[in-house]
Amino acid sequence: MTHVFAIAAFVMLLMSCKEKDATPQQADGTEDTLQTSVKVDEVAESRLLSYEQRQGRHLYRKYCSVCHGEEGKGDGFNAFNLDPRPRDFTDVTYMNALSDVRVAETISQGGRGVNRSPLMPSWGGRMSKKEIAYVVDYIRSISVKTE
Ligand code: HEC
Repeated sequence: MTHVFAIAAFVMLLMSCKEKDATPQQADGTEDTLQTSVKVDEVAESRLLSYEQRQGRHLYRKYCSVCHGEEGKGDGFNAFNLDPRPRDFTDVTYMNALSDVRVAETISQGGRGVNRSPLMPSWGGRMSKKEIAYVVDYIRSISVKTE
């Protein structure tokens, strides 16, 4: 639950920055705050991601990063508690062996549903099929082949 409050606090922080910043007005009168309130490397990463992957990243940070880590390395702050450890999504060989359908099933049904550790929760009740597909897309962007 605490991460929900952390996110709420972060949103409030962003909103307070918005008030202080003398941000340029766009032609339609709305403020152009997106670029100024987001970290530079984040902007660079966003350019490499599709719309679906950016939606997935948002959901991933909300629901998955506590265990799988901000960068998907399986090292979220909750990870030390868990045995087996949350999967490392940067493990390309392992992740490439899992089909998109299988990853979506794992998210929807949890570890229990696919013969994995029940410590991997099920998300089917909280996320729509479309949202789960977004998260799968985002996970694929973490474990792209680099060689
Ligand atoms: C409470 C901690 C926790 C959270 C939150 C969590 N996971 Fe996991 N996840 C795990 C653990 C532990 C495993 C390892 C299961 C195993 O190897 O038996 C795992 C494994 C996985 C796997 C690999 C399954 C396989 O076949 O090896 C995927 C994919 C996955 N999680 C996706 C997600 C996604 C996406 C989210 C967010 C929607 C998420 N997890 C949130 C703990 C978590």
